[in-house]
Amino acid sequence: MKDLVFDLIKKEEIRQSEGLELIPSENYVSKAVLKAMGSVLTNKYSEGYPSFEGIPNWSEAEIADKVLPNYRYYGGQINVDRIERLAIERACKLFKADHANVQPHSGANANEAVYFAWCEPGDNILAMNLGHGGHLTHGSPVTRSAKIYNFIPYGTDKSGDLDYDEMESLAMENDVKLILVGYSAFPLVPDFERVAAIREKAAAKWGHEILLMADMAHVAGLIAAGIHPNPLDFGFNVMTTTTHKTLRGPRGGLILTKGKVGSPLKKIEHKSLDIIPTLVDKAVFPGTQGGPLEHVIAAKAVAFGEALKPSFKTYAKNIVKNAKALAEELKKRGFVLQADGTENHLILIDVMKSYGINGKLYEKALDLIGLTLNANALPGDTGGAFRPNGVRLGTPAITTRGLGVKEMAKIAEWMEEVAKICKEAGTEEKLADHQKEFDKLHQEVIALATTFPLPTA
Ligand SMILES: Cc1ncc(COP(=O)(O)O)c(C=O)c1O
Repeated sequence: MKDLVFDLIKKEEIRQSEGLELIPSENYVSKAVLKAMGSVLTNKYSEGYPSFEGIPNWSEAEIADKVLPNYRYYGGQINVDRIERLAIERACKLFKADHANVQPHSGANANEAVYFAWCEPGDNILAMNLGHGGHLTHGSPVTRSAKIYNFIPYGTDKSGDLDYDEMESLAMENDVKLILVGYSAFPLVPDFERVAAIREKAAAKWGHEILLMADMAHVAGLIAAGIHPNPLDFGFNVMTTTTHKTLRGPRGGLILTKGKVGSPLKKIEHKSLDIIPTLVDKAVFPGTQGGPLEHVIAAKAVAFGEALKPSFKTYAKNIVKNAKALAEELKKRGFVLQADGTENHLILIDVMKSYGINGKLYEKALDLIGLTLNANALPGDTGGAFRPNGVRLGTPAITTRGLGVKEMAKIAEWMEEVAKICKEAGTEEKLADHQKEFDKLHQEVIALATTFPLPTA
């Protein structure tokens, strides 16, 4: 008998196809990624790792052909080892890393594993304030990490850039163990060199090593394509990311490290930065996770393979080109943008300053016409987490579908019309009075969206 779940999956397919996805952390995977994820690999337990020693110089063909030694706790790993090894090789190549752990189930798990790998309970971690664009896993009090470690937040300055002066004074005032640069709502390119200098100065003052970590979940695809600086080129020891945003892979996490790669079974007497790859491996398994999701790891390997192709560089360039075009079109229509624009894939709009409406009302109204984005707090937001003054949007998903600069102007036009309706309506309840206007705009969105099919259609 057919399961009701499949009816709902079909409905979701239609929703995705008829709407335009502007949430900057979402994307559409290829048919190949989807196929790997829905494969029989989901049946397999593979706690542990494939072997790391002696393999780095092998070609992909050799890895796929040879039977690899491993550090696994179950039999039957002959294919899984080779698939995971291919995922590791490709990830290292993409990000110029010495080692990659492809097992984190999510970005949150990846971050937690890194904290666990390096820090002791009570250690100070410097990370970006959630209210200024940081992520929940960077020290929000509602998380487990924040109960274990002491997060010290830095923010953005008046121009919207990272407040490096604040970061430096906090690093010199507090005995920090880890400095984290990462964000989920920041439209500029960080100065990794400046952060590396802050780490050096603080390490000299406190007389111990400080881990430099970047959480590049949002811009990993741009880094892989070489159009955004790579923190690992600037002395960062660790870079975490999700694999499903600009990187366009399956939902999941990834940890890239610089340093000596060793056996994850080795007992470690003393933690030091040069062995961070192994500290991270031990922290992922058995430290914080059980069996890896090998079907997802296979899909990650496929996505990394796609990202290594020249066409991915064109894709990444187009993401930024579209984001800049959309930002300019929005500004022309009276929208006030955080940092006055964007240097990456993401745009933050102060809709309160622009049209006197809150982000949640605007998000709901745009949903009615098939444009999906999310309400987002801005630095110093007075609206609170549920009624923030801002919205966050981006171009990774629509760029995958092939939309270009011309379509960005159309999206901005729809966004202006909806903002004006929201201003007139004032409340969510009153949006219903404008149903006819929304229906008309919705039909226009469907007409445009369906001319750009999903890659999996
Ligand atoms: C910067 C950053 N780190 C971590 C995460 C967490 O990723 P996940 O949702 O896969 O746990 C996100 C997700 O949005 C993110 O933006």
